[in-house]
Amino acid sequence: MSNAVAPAIEGSDQADAPLHVAIIMDGNGRWAAARGLPRAEGHRRGVEALRRVVRAAGELNILYLTIFSFSSENWSRPPSEISDLFGLLRRFVRNDLATLHRDGVRVRVIGERDGLEPDISALLTEAEELTKNNNRLNLVVAFNYGSRQEIAKAARRLAREVAEGKRDPATIDADTLGRYLDAPDIPDPDLIIRTSGEQRLSNFLMWQAAYSEFVFVPIHWPDFDRTALEGAIAEYARRERRFGGLAAKAGS
Ligand code: FPP
Repeated sequence: MSNAVAPAIEGSDQADAPLHVAIIMDGNGRWAAARGLPRAEGHRRGVEALRRVVRAAGELNILYLTIFSFSSENWSRPPSEISDLFGLLRRFVRNDLATLHRDGVRVRVIGERDGLEPDISALLTEAEELTKNNNRLNLVVAFNYGSRQEIAKAARRLAREVAEGKRDPATIDADTLGRYLDAPDIPDPDLIIRTSGEQRLSNFLMWQAAYSEFVFVPIHWPDFDRTALEGAIAEYARRERRFGGLAAKAGS
């Protein structure tokens, strides 16, 4: 994702419809605990919510939907839960890929691929390859993803170019670094939604979120649906985005 920032255009209705929505799908465990169910059941119901939201995003003309499905820090969870989450990803790709493809969804994956089990890595590549020519909705799956790690990786690549004499450090600015992130062609998220009432970014898209609007929803992710997504978009539409400039009225 680039660090391109759209300028505030006076009288524009650009804030009405987000092109790129990113979601921190939080609260699966609490949803399950509140019902006396195992956490795995919360994650399973989380995948159902994901299916609903991908469908709704396509219908609502969202062009990019990024989901935080496994963070670099989730490795600190018990091995059994990690195994449940990886199992769900396997099943999601195996069961849903054909439908996603039929519906014109392009799957992109951001995050660290090295160190993943080979079959997981192969499934992610298969999903990207099969759907690479689709353009109705880009589903960006942040898997084994951490924003600090992504930025460090970009810095490392730039440092290597400098060390090899291929780059003058004076040419490195914010745009340059943005081009070395995992998906530089994807615009920054307009709207970031986090469910379950928590209000933090948790190492998700920190670079790309510079001018994103945040909507925190009190419900847990398994209960999230099209109505909740529409509610978050309505809240977004009420915001005034200034990108560091002046309000349209004040600037006129
Ligand atoms: C947060 O709930 C959710 C996650 C850590 C993972 C999100 C995963 C899914 C929705 C299912 C997997 C989907 C794919 C495509 C792999 P939490 O466990 O942190 O909930 P808690 O904060 O209530 O404990």
